[in-house]
Amino acid sequence: MKHIFKKGKDDKLPTLLLLHGTGGDERDLLPLAGMIAPEASVLSVKGNVDENGMARFFARLREGVFDEEDLIFRTKELTGFIDECAREYEFDRQNVVAIGYSNGANIAASMMYHEKHALKGAILFHAMVPRRGVKIPDLTDVPVFIGAGKSDPLIPMAETQELIKDLTSANSNISEYWTEGAHELRREEVEAACEWFKKHFSQG
Ligand code: MLT
Repeated sequence: MKHIFKKGKDDKLPTLLLLHGTGGDERDLLPLAGMIAPEASVLSVKGNVDENGMARFFARLREGVFDEEDLIFRTKELTGFIDECAREYEFDRQNVVAIGYSNGANIAASMMYHEKHALKGAILFHAMVPRRGVKIPDLTDVPVFIGAGKSDPLIPMAETQELIKDLTSANSNISEYWTEGAHELRREEVEAACEWFKKHFSQG
């Protein structure tokens, strides 16, 4: 998969896995990594699916309706790609924290819904429920930050609450931050995510 890897100064910090939104690319979230953990290694990946010229991490049937078969296939593909990168770039595969926005947050959530050790934690900005009716693995010690907009036209508040409920039932420690905004990523939620990251991964 097309990607950028940047080795960080601090090997003990998690490697940040950056996953862009629909129509983005592997450069989009680099500034976020710089704000959240400037010393951490970064693996930023571009989605393999082309939707009318827009890169995505999995196909959808229409806005907000996922192609489940493709989502499962792409989730495995991305997880396997991270395994390969960990070998090639020699970072700790067990210590990867995803930062995803929108479609990128959805595939990060899907990784956690499917595999226990896929991620060590995640920052999900404007994510949806990736799948319903599946047994989510135990996510004790996999904390998740969720940033959402109260007026997001793509993601009703009830959907974010369902995602929070799913992850909480799987024993993930959830921190939620709600803006008054819509689907756009706001600085205030990024700042809240910075605090969350410090609390869970940079101290002690
Ligand atoms: C998705 O398809 O993943 C969501 O609708 C969000 C997006 O449009 O990227």
